[in-house]
Amino acid sequence: MSTTLHLKLRIWRQDGPSAAGHFEDIDAPGIKDDMSFLEMLDIVNERLNADGREPITFDHDCREGICGTCSLMINGQAHGPQRRTATCQLHMRHFHDGQTVIIEPWRAAAFPVVRDLMVDRSAFDRIVEAGGFITAPSGGAPDANLILVPKPVADAAMDAAECIGCGACVAACPNGAANLFTAAKVAHLNLLPQGQPERYARVEAMVETMEEHFGSCTNHGECEQACPKSISIDVIALMNADYVRSKLKNRRKLARVHT
Ligand code: SF4
Ligand code: FES
Repeated sequence: MSTTLHLKLRIWRQDGPSAAGHFEDIDAPGIKDDMSFLEMLDIVNERLNADGREPITFDHDCREGICGTCSLMINGQAHGPQRRTATCQLHMRHFHDGQTVIIEPWRAAAFPVVRDLMVDRSAFDRIVEAGGFITAPSGGAPDANLILVPKPVADAAMDAAECIGCGACVAACPNGAANLFTAAKVAHLNLLPQGQPERYARVEAMVETMEEHFGSCTNHGECEQACPKSISIDVIALMNADYVRSKLKNRRKLARVHT
């Protein structure tokens, strides 16, 4: 049986990237505990619309924990109180009647606020553009056993590929570092045979692009705690090892080209 909650929302409102933001208190009665967090915001927006007030801008797309667009700081926690859960998969049963819920956008210099709760995460796109791809033509689908991949390697690559690019790792990090995101994107290609030809060029380009936009990792581990996909900080160690090797290997390759 579902329960009805009466919440007090304190929501960040900001008209645009250069406008000064502020918190707005919004009363939210009649919220069913089996609603998702985004459904709760939909209800609030319908009421604001009906009152002729400006609805709250927030990002969302799949609402299935896949696309990574829903990105809210809820009571100071990236994606809210439920571990391993993206905001769109968070249900209102994790809140109690009468609770004050503070809802903010990601707070990170590399993710400027577009409006209200929506931020610009295109700095992530710059990192992926730098090397998060394989340039070899893939041709037709080969037989599944044509390129053998050890099971633990395939599992590790697929675990890294679970990253949905939400940015919670950056928002949770006191340094605003993007090492968990970047390392996940590096690992899912660098672990597999198909990723080997560009392995060292990839890691060098992606790490150096990351450093242009984001802070430095000092091993706080907050990223792993906030990640809705449980990406392990072990991938950061893999990335760092590949980055160090890239500095030798890429230089040797360049020396061959120029002699
Ligand atoms: S590593 Fe986790 S928290 Fe960071 S962008 Fe990927 S899914 Fe989101
Ligand atoms: S809306 Fe797609 S992951 Fe939440």
